[in-house]
This record gives sequence, C-alpha cells and structure tokens, in this order.
Amino acid sequence: MSIRILSTSPLVGPALNELGTRFPELGLAAFRSPEWNAALPEAEALVVLLSEPITEADLEAAPKLKAIGTYSVGVNHLPLRACQARGIAVVNTPGVLTDATADIALALLLALTRRVAEGEALVRSGSWQGWAPDQLMGPGLAGKDCGILGSGPIGLAFARRAWALGMRPVFWDRDQKGGEVDFGAGRAPRLPLPDLLARSAVLSLHCPLTDQTRGLLDRSALEQLPTGAIIINTARGGIIDENAAIDLLEAGRLGGVGLDVYEGEPRLNPRWLQAPRAVLLPHLGSATVETREAMARLLCDGLAAALMS
Ligand code: DGY
Repeated sequence: MSIRILSTSPLVGPALNELGTRFPELGLAAFRSPEWNAALPEAEALVVLLSEPITEADLEAAPKLKAIGTYSVGVNHLPLRACQARGIAVVNTPGVLTDATADIALALLLALTRRVAEGEALVRSGSWQGWAPDQLMGPGLAGKDCGILGSGPIGLAFARRAWALGMRPVFWDRDQKGGEVDFGAGRAPRLPLPDLLARSAVLSLHCPLTDQTRGLLDRSALEQLPTGAIIINTARGGIIDENAAIDLLEAGRLGGVGLDVYEGEPRLNPRWLQAPRAVLLPHLGSATVETREAMARLLCDGLAAALMS
C-alpha cells in the first residue's frame, strides 16, 4: 500500500496515530532516508519538524502533495511561495505554544541575571565556601525597559511576564506600526527600532525569521543597545549576527545573551561554547508535555481538513 501521509517523527501524544486510523496509509520514515525519498511520489501529506527543510525539489518529487504539516509554529524551513503556487496547504501550530515559549524566554532571562547556571555549577563543584556579600551578583530588572521585537501572541505573553517582574515593555513590529500595544496587563508603546534599542536593558526576540528579519540585529544594531544590555532569543537564530553578539559579550558591552535557537542549529558557532555570560539551551521553547500534545493535535486536525478538502 502506498503511503498517503508521510511523517518523519511519531510526535507526542495520540493525535498522529488517530490520524493514521482515519487515513490508514500513514508511514514513518526518517527525513531524507531512502524510505522517505521513495514514499514522496505517492505522498499526499508530509509531517516534518522545524529542523527538516523542505525544498521546491521535494515538491517536484511529490506531485500528489496536498499539505505539509510542520510540528512548529515557525515556517521558515518551508518553501511557502512554491506551496502557495501549487495549492499545497501549509499547516503549523500557532497559539498552543505561546505560554511555553514565553516561559522559556523568562527562564533564560532569570538564569542570566540571577546567574543560575553558574551558581548550580559552583555548588556541584564542591568548592562553594558559603554565603558571601558579593557572590554571583547580577543586575535587577524592576524599573528597566524591556524591548520586545514582535507583538504577536508570544511577544505579548513575554511582555506580561516582564511586566510582572516590574519591567516596562516597549515593542517593535515588522510592519513598523506606531501607536500602542495592549499586552493584556497594560499598554506599551511601539517604537522605531533605533529608539527601542537605545533604551532596552533587556531585548527579547519574538518575531518570525523572514526576509525582513534575517540579520535584523546586525553589528550596528547591536551596538545601539545600552552597555550591559541582555539579549534573549527564543525566535530564530538568523535574526541576530551571532559573531557580532559574541564580540560584544567578550568586550563587556553586552551584559548577557540567552539563546534557545541558533543559526544553523543543531550545529553551533563554536565561539558560543567559550562565550562569557551566555546561557545556551537546546531549542526547548515548546517543550512541555501539554504543549507538544496540543501541537500534535492541531497539526493533525489541520492535515485531516486539508486531505478531505
Ligand atoms: C516553533 O515551534 O517554531 C518554536 O521554535 C518552538 O520552540
């Protein structure tokens, strides 16, 4: 029997198996394995992860394709224009990972400012000598400006968390709109990027990677941040010039960088491994059980709808 739905992963929870009951020709094959390549010509739907880029050549090889589902909210690894031109639906998972992703951004921020990883390493090393007045101090956050790139659901959710810490959120948007953003716990201004950068003690990225945002935080943008600023990136790696960020960390111009995402991940710029005041996570933004189950459900419901249309 030829495979109608081709997934590179079993996903979390029951949703994919249930989809397989409704559409019995469901197959699992590792991305770009001989089995995956062989199944493409008959596939009507693909399920891929955010680390599995689909090309126009894949679409050529899959003439029966009706939908591509990605187990992520980000769609920067999919050929969106080509899908649109061929009438192939793109199904992603917006909404259900908003809080989980904002939580991991908050975790990175607190890990950096309260030096959580260093403190834990000190205790585990067995060399902790006890409480000391100036031990592992970091900057406080209350009363400081928190620049947020992107006023979509995750940006708003992070703003509520920053506000709860006593920070003042300010926003920049891809469409360069002015005015105010209602982030649920209050209102905050939308600023031009240079104005936002100049006042952000913390800068957190919550915009997608697109042609417009690729390289948005280049060296000259990063240099506009105040000395000691902290950058948190849970969006996509290509938005920041990583070498420039590392240079500024090494020079003591940046106070810290917390990353959940990297250009070219899972390969890392090797300089990150030696970089001072950097907290590095392995793309955990949506990694709660409830979130991953909800993502699978949303994805499979979307694929079912696309296959039946
Ligand atoms: C996504 O789903 O695109 C996020 O990067 C998960 O963290």
